[in-house]
Amino acid sequence: MEIRFEQRQNLKEKPNMNELGFGKYYTDHMFMVDWIEGKGFVDPRIIPYGPIEFDPASLVLHYAQETFEGMKAYKTEDGRILLFRPDMNAKRFQTSNERLCMPTVPVEDFIQAVHELVKKEASWIPTNPGTSLYIRPFMFAYQPKLGVHAASHYKFMVILSPVGSYYKEGLKPVSIYVEDQLVRAVKGGTGFAKCGGNYASSILAQMKAEEMGYSQVLWLDGVEHKYVEEVGTMNAMFVIDGKIVTAPLEGSVLPGVTRDSMIQVLKSKGYTVEERKLSIDELIEAAKNGKLTEAFGTGTAAVISPIGKLAYKDEIFFDNNKIGEISQMLYDTLTGIQTGKIEDTFGWTYEVK
Ligand code: COI
Repeated sequence: MEIRFEQRQNLKEKPNMNELGFGKYYTDHMFMVDWIEGKGFVDPRIIPYGPIEFDPASLVLHYAQETFEGMKAYKTEDGRILLFRPDMNAKRFQTSNERLCMPTVPVEDFIQAVHELVKKEASWIPTNPGTSLYIRPFMFAYQPKLGVHAASHYKFMVILSPVGSYYKEGLKPVSIYVEDQLVRAVKGGTGFAKCGGNYASSILAQMKAEEMGYSQVLWLDGVEHKYVEEVGTMNAMFVIDGKIVTAPLEGSVLPGVTRDSMIQVLKSKGYTVEERKLSIDELIEAAKNGKLTEAFGTGTAAVISPIGKLAYKDEIFFDNNKIGEISQMLYDTLTGIQTGKIEDTFGWTYEVK
């Protein structure tokens, strides 16, 4: 793919890299390519970051035909730029797009778009501990039409944002409310796809949790409201009797890149990982008899988010306000590999040259 480049006239002032927050600042340029039925991908370009114009009848605004990805770029101490397993994001983007009846971007084109944009914006990659350049590839339908059907016109875009930690708590443990009414996904729906609609429908539960003084929710399965699935916008893992238990990928859970990486790290260090159904009753029981020693969420944005408190139907059944040994080891190992501080024996890092 030949990407044309249009330079921004006045470069932006960089934010204070010590106070980035999450998704507050965007770099000077963005990537964009259109997909038009009968023509395919048209005019890939890196252009100045800014508002874009599209018709009020654009399908995405009405029926949410949209997918996205989340990735990060890091600068190593010796100045190299590393991405983490970009091929996995590219493949998941294809899976999501297939589910939403949208065109799929070839893996090499997805990686090239990210690569070229990150290379141009290298001066925006923050280097303080815990910071990175968050990469948000996304696609949406912009054909103006009000009939519910797959669109004939899409834009695939990539934007970049220098970020600190996703949760204001950083790596400090968060408190979680187990949501027993609202559900995130069911098998056969879009739970395994990364589409905006999944996140829009999660906001109500998130708000309810916040009103009660919790940071996030733990989702139960959508059929029986019995099995734990995800935590907020992350995959969830629990250390029970020394074994790590996480929900299986059976259609309602997002196949997280961080989830997969942590499972591989854990297995390489001799831990037993069980991808299986875990009922809320079993979890409460394990907490009550002291077998539940750690709980945490995993995702690109937060990397790892230790769970300090778990409440179900107004009862706090897990209260352990510290970062567990396994959580800390996973955080150190993963961020060590991502930032080039630890040797990458898995072959996960990809250098942007
Ligand atoms: C990520 O972890 O990258 C995500 O996509 C979660 C998010 C909605 C910020």
